[in-house]
Amino acid sequence: NPYIVIIAGGKGERFWPQSRAERPKHLLPVVGDKPLLTQTVERVLPIVPKENIFVITSAVQEKGVRAVCKDLPKENVIAEPVGRDTAAAVGLAAAIVGARDPNGVFAVLPADHVIHNGKKYQADLKVAFAAAKKSPVMVTIGITPTEPATGFGYVQRGKTPQKVGRREIFEVKRFVEKPDLKTAKRYLKSGDYFWNAGMFVWSVGVVESAIAEFAPKLDAGLQPIRAALAKGRKLTPVLKKVYPTLEKISVDYALLEKSTNVVVLPSTFDWDDVGAWPAVARHFKPDTAGNVMRGATMVEQGAGNIVFSEGSHLVTVVGVDDLIVVHTPEATLVCPKDKAQEIKALLKRVNALP
Ligand code: GDD
Ligand code: MG
Repeated sequence: NPYIVIIAGGKGERFWPQSRAERPKHLLPVVGDKPLLTQTVERVLPIVPKENIFVITSAVQEKGVRAVCKDLPKENVIAEPVGRDTAAAVGLAAAIVGARDPNGVFAVLPADHVIHNGKKYQADLKVAFAAAKKSPVMVTIGITPTEPATGFGYVQRGKTPQKVGRREIFEVKRFVEKPDLKTAKRYLKSGDYFWNAGMFVWSVGVVESAIAEFAPKLDAGLQPIRAALAKGRKLTPVLKKVYPTLEKISVDYALLEKSTNVVVLPSTFDWDDVGAWPAVARHFKPDTAGNVMRGATMVEQGAGNIVFSEGSHLVTVVGVDDLIVVHTPEATLVCPKDKAQEIKALLKRVNALP
């Protein structure tokens, strides 16, 4: 049986004020009526037994994550004492899976994506597992790009596909994490690039040799964790000691950009990374004027607004268009849709408040 490790330690700051350090995007029902992390767990439960599903989160989010992962064994939720980005989380994941099965194949999945077609997602994951079992490759899932987005990784596919069952998998010529706009436009035009969905499927051996080769400092840092697991010791004390010293880098920069054994499986499922408020609107049915509303809200003579209220506080909007208005018990945000990216800058000041 394969394993699944959901990494859920990210900040998701662009959903402030609904998201906060201890309640990031994946703990919110951004789309649907359950938190995105719960939806992610439920989406994989039909294909992998729950004993084989792990969630790696951060200490500040641990309580919230445990509360929404009730389906999983308690010991399968692991908290990093401090966030060291995704390469460290992947290294920890490989160590955990490796302690159960040194030849194990596992998927690393993001916790905070919106996917409606669970059946196709499960089918694609099964193909990826089969590919990673068959040869020592790093399987990525490719999404056909629709715009020159600069917030994603891009994979350039080779020409000739290999068959895995009835599906085609392509060699990856290049993996480029978050290119600038000019480069992204070129990639989009060329037609042989996919977006990287941020999902990776591989064996313990493939991940650990890539870490040893391309991130030797991280590899050395992970040794005490692997040793503790091998001796059946508790993880918490060793993580506390070792984690703050680990190299802070994303798995995309640390491993994927450098490896030559990356392959891509074109996805068949719908996919949305819902990076910020305007993206949320895509998943709701708007009213006749194109307003997307949730909770106690009312719009009078306005179009294209996103209006969310948490709790019973009535939020009303009159005579304005294309605004984001989000009210929570702690804070209220009013922002034109085309300025949604600036919330990050605002947050720096909010976080600096005494
Ligand atoms: N445990 C843990 N610790 N998880 C983390 C940490 C960490 O320090 N940092 C991030 N994560 C989790 C997030 O919660 C999310 O589920 C996942 O790792 C990806 O992190 P993001 O921060 O959302 O990455 P990104 O969106 O900027 O980029 C990645 O995903 C894109 C697709 O959405 C890359 O893989 C891109 O190449 C890809 O296109
Ligand atoms: Mg993301």
